[in-house]
Amino acid sequence: MDSKGQLKLDVVVPAAGVGRRMGAAVPKQYLKLQGQTILELTLAKLLACSCVSQVIVALSQEDPYFDTLEISKDPRIIRTAGGAERPDSVLAGLYLAHSPWVLVHDAVRPLVSPADIEKLVTACVQADCGGILAAPAVDSLKLVQPKGSAGDEAQLLIERNLPRDLIFRALTPQCFKREQLTLALHSALQQGMPVTDEASAMEQAGYPCQIVPGRTDNFKITTKEDLQLAAALLGNICPA
Ligand code: C5P
Repeated sequence: MDSKGQLKLDVVVPAAGVGRRMGAAVPKQYLKLQGQTILELTLAKLLACSCVSQVIVALSQEDPYFDTLEISKDPRIIRTAGGAERPDSVLAGLYLAHSPWVLVHDAVRPLVSPADIEKLVTACVQADCGGILAAPAVDSLKLVQPKGSAGDEAQLLIERNLPRDLIFRALTPQCFKREQLTLALHSALQQGMPVTDEASAMEQAGYPCQIVPGRTDNFKITTKEDLQLAAALLGNICPA
């Protein structure tokens, strides 16, 4: 809480990935949109939220780019060294957080809406239950089985339809109590469980996690197509 009684949260931004699937010369968070890197756009969105007190950015040990960004001088930004996998980077950030509730947000989701962030925080704190922004599935969903021997390019055969009303795409931010999330990530890593997002660690640790529907344009920039789409949405010319 600040002096006016408003809840304030620390945000952890894992930004230590190399972005192999993008295949660019620099990690994808440093590719530019509208003259700014994706990481700068993302951090500016977070800092624009009145509920955010500080943003802890987990960076690769060899990151030569972050210090060159104007936003790195903002006193509300703290940096730390990330780890080998995303949950290691998130844990490194959590060690520097102080607020009872925290948010975790991917560095490569610059289109997140501050209104969605406020909606998520309000829903979690009011219900005293952690949660995530998520987008409802709109396409028909197919469970497939690969067919073909090793070495061949597998043919994917549809096994069955999945009930799309019950399926959501997990986005970020994800909002949890700091101590519970720290313990859940520790335990999942110790047990060698796959942790693709914070909610998966919380679920494995037995905590309930709620879905808060969010805007579908809050996608993770992963491929060149995503970059072109983000550029178009930001009203920019598509980068080559
Ligand atoms: O690789 P992926 O797209 O799932 O990465 C999601 C986020 O996690 C990105 O912001 C990336 O920089 C971050 N990450 C990290 N440390 C790693 C791997 C990924 O902070 N070791």
